[in-house]
Amino acid sequence: MKQITLINGDGIGPEICDAVVKIIEASGLKINWDIQTAGADVIESEGTPLPERVINSIKKNKVALKAPVTTPIGKGFRSVNVQLRKELDLYANLRPCKNLPNVNTKFSNVDIVVVRENTEDLYAGIERQIDADTAESIKLITRKASERICRFAFDYAVKNNRKEVCVVTKANIMKLSDGLFLDCFRNIALSYPDINKREILVDNLCMQLVQNPAQFDVLVLPNLYGDIVSDLCAGLVGGLGIAQGANIGADCAVFEPVHGSAPDIKGQNKANPTALLLSAVEMLKYINENHYAVKIERALFKTFEQGIYTCDLGGQASTTEFADAVIKNLNQ
Ligand code: NAI
Repeated sequence: MKQITLINGDGIGPEICDAVVKIIEASGLKINWDIQTAGADVIESEGTPLPERVINSIKKNKVALKAPVTTPIGKGFRSVNVQLRKELDLYANLRPCKNLPNVNTKFSNVDIVVVRENTEDLYAGIERQIDADTAESIKLITRKASERICRFAFDYAVKNNRKEVCVVTKANIMKLSDGLFLDCFRNIALSYPDINKREILVDNLCMQLVQNPAQFDVLVLPNLYGDIVSDLCAGLVGGLGIAQGANIGADCAVFEPVHGSAPDIKGQNKANPTALLLSAVEMLKYINENHYAVKIERALFKTFEQGIYTCDLGGQASTTEFADAVIKNLNQ
């Protein structure tokens, strides 16, 4: 039986985790969940929001499903999410953004996959205060990290029958750093003759995304643009409650929703489990359990087609009622 690390997080984490685990179990797939607590709730007992046992569990199992974890403000703790990405070298942030059936948005036919470099750029944390009125941050771009993220994007395109990979930079202004990223894209692209290539500047991309998003397929971006553009794309298809994500490295992968722990609706049985469920579906594809991935995805889509939504999407179903509706649709 496949063993997978399950971090049920805090805030709405445990509620949406219960819903998703129940749905996966009902699909017939047997998983041995290695449950690991992390976040605000374990700080008091273990002195850190990310104990070593969590990292060791993911290293051993290679795959984790993760619910959101609160980052305590002003207590000196690093974000669990940032720390996980660093410790496990999860260099690719993957955010598929696709219209869901019967979920009304401004655009239809959006099916974009955002591939964001996760380790460097302005997020490398190289900053200094020059004097009281001046500070600087270094935008670090390396050939190694840029080539591996571009290769990841093309491999993803091949594996998932996508037609085009578009690189997003501001290489007209940052000729050296973004210029290097673009150069790496062009080099890697040579090995993928069957995939269309496209190059676009990030400002133009943003305008095009809010005018005609259906023209885009796979996007590959350095860290900062990737962070911003992936939230824009999540907004195009219905917002946080349905936005899935994954952080993938050479050895391990952590699948998690884009949203946070939503303390404002914690414990109210109101949270939408869709983002975590779609992250789990992507995880099942990653571990080659395609049959169950498709089965669960179909049941979820059918639930939307029946007009059943949680309140973030204008419906009245509770978290548990929504999960029960998906389970009912699994075998229909
Ligand atoms: P948030 O994403 O938790 O909430 C923003 C708004 O969206 C809230 O009104 C919330 O109720 C709503 N929302 C989020 N997920 C929802 C869902 N599944 N169903 C229905 N409504 C949902 O963002 P916020 O408030 O900025 O962050 C709260 C905490 O989460 C912070 O401590 C932050 O650091 C942490 N966080 C953790 C992440 C992770 O673990 N990957 C990612 C983002 C934030």
